[in-house]
Amino acid sequence: MPINTLPKHDVKDLGLAAHGRLRIEWAATQMPVLRLIQERFAKEKPLAGVKIAACLHVTTETANLMLAMQAGGADLALCASNPLSTQDDVAAALVSEYGISTFAVKGEDNDTYYRHINAVLSTGPNMTMDDGCDLVSALHRDTTGLIDAVFGGTEETTTGVVRLRSMQENGVLRYPIVAVNEASTKHFFDNRYGTGQSTLDGVIRATNFLIAGSTVVVAGYGWCGRGIAMRARGLGANVVVTEVDPIRALEALMDGYRVMPSVEAAKRADVFITATGDVNVVDRAQLAVMKDGAMLANSGHFNDEINIPALAEMSSGRRMVRDFVEEFRLTDGRRLYLLADGRLVNLSAAEGHPAGVMDMSFANQALSAEFLRQHASELQNQVYVVPTEIDREIARLKLRAMNVEIDELTDEQRKYLASWESGT
Ligand code: ADE
Repeated sequence: MPINTLPKHDVKDLGLAAHGRLRIEWAATQMPVLRLIQERFAKEKPLAGVKIAACLHVTTETANLMLAMQAGGADLALCASNPLSTQDDVAAALVSEYGISTFAVKGEDNDTYYRHINAVLSTGPNMTMDDGCDLVSALHRDTTGLIDAVFGGTEETTTGVVRLRSMQENGVLRYPIVAVNEASTKHFFDNRYGTGQSTLDGVIRATNFLIAGSTVVVAGYGWCGRGIAMRARGLGANVVVTEVDPIRALEALMDGYRVMPSVEAAKRADVFITATGDVNVVDRAQLAVMKDGAMLANSGHFNDEINIPALAEMSSGRRMVRDFVEEFRLTDGRRLYLLADGRLVNLSAAEGHPAGVMDMSFANQALSAEFLRQHASELQNQVYVVPTEIDREIARLKLRAMNVEIDELTDEQRKYLASWESGT
């Protein structure tokens, strides 16, 4: 695009755009469901005239979501949902190849992160698309009345949904939000197989560490923790799970992992990975007993699962020893290695979830945005789940794209399931 027609933006280097475009096109080859939606959106324009403020990880997959929304007629402004997850070539391509207003620079500081959120909000959106609830939270704290124009929003991730439910319970949520995370075609796949693969990918890219024969501790056995544990075991690790929920702990045990308190697990860890969504999961007590050379990584949304200020206080020095690997030398001589600043290791040190799984997550985003456009006036200021028909249709389309056929119930079976008379 000619430089004077570019949309508003703040990206690292527009010169990276051609490279970004190639990678966006590559991801598109693995997003067949989103492509079908994009093709329909291009004909039907269900989002014509809707201004969307999006706060998402700026990746090749997100770029394809933005293109689907653009095809549907939406006017878009995008910022990063994490200071370290932006792919700078993608941000450049979004601006100069596709004309989408983008504010995101990998490694931006906190002030810039919020300046970018405010830049996106100042476009006066009617809809929000968030990942982690920082955008929605900033909009609810804004005092200039921007929120009055917003009729609905979507939220991508578990952490964001937890925050939104808290807003709903406290009576402060000002518009309806569809929790994309709650769709089965999102969390069963993205959180489990996406986080599982991309977290190990992040740890390995950052460290080139041999997982086979090592002890990997996974804190939290939600969908993300299950995926990380599964993939670590697949690579030959002895996997230890820590949990606070007795049912999940039991599940981890019966899935074949060792389960123990986190301080015990910390003594054994070669790699300690947090995926809980809670704060200070690795705290002084765990740091005090870790082995020399142990690595710490986080795959939860925020960088507060590992108590980094405590780690710094317990250390006499720190230095970067590789990209995304910081060595902390503790006062007792042990060295601990923090990956990617304790931020999402899969998006900071690797590329996030593969496109093949984001295909379903972002199909949910696109169809939820369309649903909101059609139904927002009938909804309350609450958190809604993705309608089951949308969820099941996405699964059907994904199976078809993967050339997998399944059976249908016969009439006899349908009747049987609907009856209560027949028994032993
Ligand atoms: N969240 C996790 N992986 C992602 C990706 N590849 N793109 C956008 N958001 C993500």
